[in-house]
Amino acid sequence: MKIVVIGANGTIGSAVVQALGQDHEVVKVGKTHGDVQLDIADPDSIHTAFGQIGPFDALVVTAGEVAFKPFSDLDAEAWSVGLNSKLMGQINAARAAVDYLNPNGSITLTSGILSEEFIAWGTSASTVNGAIEHFVRAVATELPKGIRINVVSPALLEESVNVFGGFFPGFEPVAGTRVAQAYVKSIAGVMSGRVFKVT
Ligand SMILES: NC(=O)c1ccc[n+]([C@@H]2O[C@H](COP(=O)([O-])OP(=O)(O)OC[C@H]3O[C@@H](n4cnc5c(N)ncnc54)[C@H](OP(=O)(O)O)[C@@H]3O)[C@@H](O)[C@H]2O)c1
Repeated sequence: MKIVVIGANGTIGSAVVQALGQDHEVVKVGKTHGDVQLDIADPDSIHTAFGQIGPFDALVVTAGEVAFKPFSDLDAEAWSVGLNSKLMGQINAARAAVDYLNPNGSITLTSGILSEEFIAWGTSASTVNGAIEHFVRAVATELPKGIRINVVSPALLEESVNVFGGFFPGFEPVAGTRVAQAYVKSIAGVMSGRVFKVT
């Protein structure tokens, strides 16, 4: 399969590329790294990049920023980071992919454990992750061409403990290799409209 991974240079994305690379042609996409660059918050840049890449069989998005702040400090600008980048960014990528995916292709997005568990400073992330999961369940019912869509909801990765571990006291981290297998299950399997939790 020809598989486009947006966020390929990141912590999750590099684990996904590693898991897929042996068996598939992987097109690595990022904002500043990779074979092709785009900004998921900018729909025109996604169409330009997908036009360069040509038709593909699967899209994975492991990108999207969100602000971690106390609720009292989450002003409109801080909220817009998660809403424009992680939520609308992943929706923008899914919308554009429909035009470029081959029949029976798949889309796999990324939410996170904060859709169901809550931490200090995590209200924006929880809101955005929950919305991505609801988007996937709903849109799965009306995608054309036999296209499937799922979302992977990982716990904190072991590889990210040094950066984010302080936000997640008592949360057990998971290995990136295990998280990557959820993306493989989404791409190579038959399920659609599902949330694959990796905890
Ligand atoms: N790491 C975790 O423990 C964890 C757990 C649960 C959920 N998540 C979620 O998973 C996603 C990825 O996390 P991560 O830790 O792998 O992040 P990361 O290491 O910071 O990597 C993110 C990647 O996304 C790309 N990117 C960022 N903004 C972009 C944009 N606007 N357009 C296109 N590409 C963009 C970056 O590309 P360039 O390098 O090319 O600039 C980067 O390679 C995030 O939404 C995060 O909330 C992470």
